[in-house]
Amino acid sequence: MLDRPKAAIDLESRRVSRAVDAIFAHLLRPPGDSRDKLFEAMRHAAIGGGKRLRPLLAVASARLFAIDERRAIRVGAAIEAIHVYSLIHDDLPCMDNDDMRRGKPTVHRAFDEATAILAGDSLHAMAFEILSDHETHEDPFVRAALTLDLARAAGPSGMAGGQMMDLAAEGEALDLQAVTRLQQLKTGALIEFAVEAACIMARLPAEARTPYRGYARNIGLAFQIADDLIDHSGDAAAAGKRVGKDAASGKATIVSLLGPDRARQQAEMLVEQAVEHLSNHGSEADLLRAIAAFVTERDR
Ligand code: IPE
Ligand code: IPE
Ligand code: MG
Ligand code: MG
Ligand code: MG
Repeated sequence: MLDRPKAAIDLESRRVSRAVDAIFAHLLRPPGDSRDKLFEAMRHAAIGGGKRLRPLLAVASARLFAIDERRAIRVGAAIEAIHVYSLIHDDLPCMDNDDMRRGKPTVHRAFDEATAILAGDSLHAMAFEILSDHETHEDPFVRAALTLDLARAAGPSGMAGGQMMDLAAEGEALDLQAVTRLQQLKTGALIEFAVEAACIMARLPAEARTPYRGYARNIGLAFQIADDLIDHSGDAAAAGKRVGKDAASGKATIVSLLGPDRARQQAEMLVEQAVEHLSNHGSEADLLRAIAAFVTERDR
């Protein structure tokens, strides 16, 4: 039963990854002046790496409403640009101080810290450049709604706010509710936007969005539990990044609070609930269902 979703994911995710790479490769052509190092650093981080979960989710969600896939890929590339920027900054010595990311040296290691900060800043800006471009959607109201929502998901009420809470969680006795809130912001917000973007492009009224928001919320939380499980007991070579760092820094996570077995059960329960939110859909939701299964099965 589990092989089919995995095969579907592999195929679709390779296709989506190639399309996202093409957008980045086009936008990040080195200009042939003293900014070349910045462009090379952005290319190093953004092209040819990562699971591309967020673009895949954007494509899978758009499929529910038969939205042109090219639009979904552009939205996915915008989210991925924010995500990659967040990883570059997350790895900096002043944050998690990591040397490996996606099986390669982190940007500040391959280049230098100043370049890493600027590469993150530039990818952040590039996300909104992609999203607000006419090619993403012909309706300026849809483009404005997408831009507003991504800004909220990336900023202090979303990813960046969650990263602040995460730093404060080192050596803090946070409870389950506090960790869940932190993880919903740091990881969930961008994942939720990938699904919400399809609802925006489909011009769904707010009350019709509830099941998709439920799906995305559950997937976001399950995804971060899986990340924490990989950090707890995963393999650095498979993950492409250092493991064991949450325990070493005394970081409160669902795994540190519940232990790995109950944390895994919790993630699996969230995934089951996520899939239940799609019960009104037929085969057009199969990719979203396959993604849900993948979230807890992954080793990277
Ligand atoms: C890692 O994200 C950081 C989190 C927010 C959990 P991913 O596990 O999606 O990393 P990539 O994109 O595949 O490298
Ligand atoms: C990072 O969380 C989440 C971001 C918003 C970048 P982690 O610090 O746990 O991610 P990894 O384990 O370094 O990928
Ligand atoms: Mg971190
Ligand atoms: Mg980190
Ligand atoms: Mg982690």
